[in-house]
Amino acid sequence: MRTQVAVVGRGPAGLVLSHLLALAGIESVVVDVRDRDTIESTIRAGILEAGTVDLLVDTGVGDRVLREGTRHDGIELRFAGESHRIDLRGLTGRSVHLYPQHEVLKDLIAARLAAGADLRFGVSEVALHDLTGDAPRVTFTGADGSAVDLAADVVVGCDGSGGVSRWAIPQQERRDHFRAYPFAWFGILAEAPRSSEELVYAHSPRGFALVSSRTEQVQRMYFQCDPQEQADDWSDDRIWAELQARVGGNGFALQEGRIFERSVIPMRSYVCEPLQHGRLFLAGDAAHTVPPTGAKGLNLAVADVRVLAPALQAWFATGDPALLDAYTDTALRRVWRAQHFSWWMTSMLHRSDDASAFDLRRQVGELDLVTSSTAASTYLAEAYVGWPLSA
Ligand code: DHB
Repeated sequence: MRTQVAVVGRGPAGLVLSHLLALAGIESVVVDVRDRDTIESTIRAGILEAGTVDLLVDTGVGDRVLREGTRHDGIELRFAGESHRIDLRGLTGRSVHLYPQHEVLKDLIAARLAAGADLRFGVSEVALHDLTGDAPRVTFTGADGSAVDLAADVVVGCDGSGGVSRWAIPQQERRDHFRAYPFAWFGILAEAPRSSEELVYAHSPRGFALVSSRTEQVQRMYFQCDPQEQADDWSDDRIWAELQARVGGNGFALQEGRIFERSVIPMRSYVCEPLQHGRLFLAGDAAHTVPPTGAKGLNLAVADVRVLAPALQAWFATGDPALLDAYTDTALRRVWRAQHFSWWMTSMLHRSDDASAFDLRRQVGELDLVTSSTAASTYLAEAYVGWPLSA
């Protein structure tokens, strides 16, 4: 088998890349070890930056995000028992959309299949070969058990933090920038009415909590917990008591209901450098991971391939590798800004085990500044709605 671009992984990076390449007349084959149901139902974050929504709309896959997603013009930062609004739209002229990642993936998969794309689900034993020559290959076992040898001009690794692509860059050529955080998020989905029109990011002496939403009837919430916590050890009552203690009261009524999904989400930062090894390029979580605070993961994946797709297009059209050679530096500039933003939001809102009264008061001092200074809230708002691609 032969294609122009072999894409390993069909999360946001792989599917948006394949979609953008097809619009530019470039053929790709996308393979993933997961089956379609798993991809379309795995629960991830829900915030799409303004530029991510624009890209989906401009390339013909934005109907549902506009119809079923919700535009958010602001967020609430809650601390010392009070909520303070950050007016995203007033400060930046832009907004975000709340629309879950797996819904974006459903729309992209449907669009790619309607366009006749070759998407292979449920493959195994994926291996990358001959990446430093001009005839790289991806081998894998298809869902039907057949052995496939896929020859390509370029391989793009979009297979997430647990995939094989990252490790295909030899260790002596790769720098792994890694940071683990001493806490995790306990995430739930509950059948309950909305407690707030906008997302609430809450600081409290008991630690961070986030009130988000999915639909009128289904709410998404998170609270900071120990990374060793077992989600099933918590009763519904204990979960609600913890959330109430962190966000409730003083005029904020947190609506409770049946909890039907729960998991503990680790928090880490990772950046791989470089993002290229010969004819292999990395994008999305295969290249970098951010902690979830601020919901940058999907948006960074989309930003990577918005840089990579035109670079590949230029190379296929003219043979000029200048944009491809610049990919690592261009993409990592935004990645490091997002690493800073996610780390900053995390450190401002979370409680460390060894936090003293001084640390908690210092965080409140920072939150007070961020919510009352136009300069500081504009920094937060610009980062939250997403920086322009060229900035
Ligand atoms: C959601 C997740 C986030 O990490 C975040 O910052 C905001 C919203 C969510 O899942 O809705």
